Amino acid sequence: MTADIIDGKAFAASVRERVGKQVAKLQAENGLTPGLAVVLVGEDPASLVYVRNKGKSTQEAGMKSEEIRLEASASQEEVLAVVNRLNADPTIHGILVQLPLPDQVDEMAILDAINPEKDVDGFHVINTGRQAVGLPAMVPCTPLGCLMMLQDKLGDLSGLNAVVVGRSNIVGKPMASLLLAQSCTVTIAHSRTRDLPAVCRGADILVAAVGRPEMIRGDWVKPGAAVIDVGINRIEKEDGKTKLVGDVCFSEASEVAGAITPVPGGVGPMTIACLLANTVTAACRQAGIEEPAV
Ligand code: GUN
Repeated sequence: MTADIIDGKAFAASVRERVGKQVAKLQAENGLTPGLAVVLVGEDPASLVYVRNKGKSTQEAGMKSEEIRLEASASQEEVLAVVNRLNADPTIHGILVQLPLPDQVDEMAILDAINPEKDVDGFHVINTGRQAVGLPAMVPCTPLGCLMMLQDKLGDLSGLNAVVVGRSNIVGKPMASLLLAQSCTVTIAHSRTRDLPAVCRGADILVAAVGRPEMIRGDWVKPGAAVIDVGINRIEKEDGKTKLVGDVCFSEASEVAGAITPVPGGVGPMTIACLLANTVTAACRQAGIEEPAV
């Protein structure tokens, strides 16, 4: 093994600790308790786990946490009514509607209804646009967590070749936009990309967000590159038990890369930590106060 392992779990713990201190300061000095509401429609098992973890971490950071559960059969109007109520609630500074939503609910219409100032997911087109042109915006949590780990490892990213594999609205596109804002030369690769291994081999920074277990092999990685694996895939082992793997073949890539995130324990923990940080940012902006330095 040659690569440094980027410890997302430890990094996330340090971010959560900082957020906890910020919350304590806001409460003591401004009488402000940031509040985060998470809306879950239906019973998707993975979403249930995520939502429970988000609620727990929010409370641990000293913030107000509200969880709203709706039946899988909920109508678009019912979901919209919840979003509108939360938009109007002054004790709630962040709203997250867990995706995916059931088929009868129009995802874009729901995301569009969230007050952009409370959009801690950063999925509203206003935040997407503001981030793209360099205005203050809420930034999607997973790409933000990836960027923080890259900057921590590499320092200035300016001029580096970054390849983002995957073009989703949640990860691929905002990740590319954030890297461009750091003056990387950015390529977004996807399922139609020709000679994907060769494209990946040009990357100083390789971000994998495709949802295909271990698709990116060791010989796709440029020696010394920083590899960020956003994938979380559950696969069956030979003994019938299951395990989590990323979109990168870790055993191969870690022999070639300079630094790499493991799965689990890499990107995943950073996402929730960034959600908490975004909630503090949103609360401060809504209250018209500076984010406390701690
Ligand atoms: N589902 C999977 N990831 C996410 C996320 O980052 N935000 C929301 N709202 N739903 C998700």
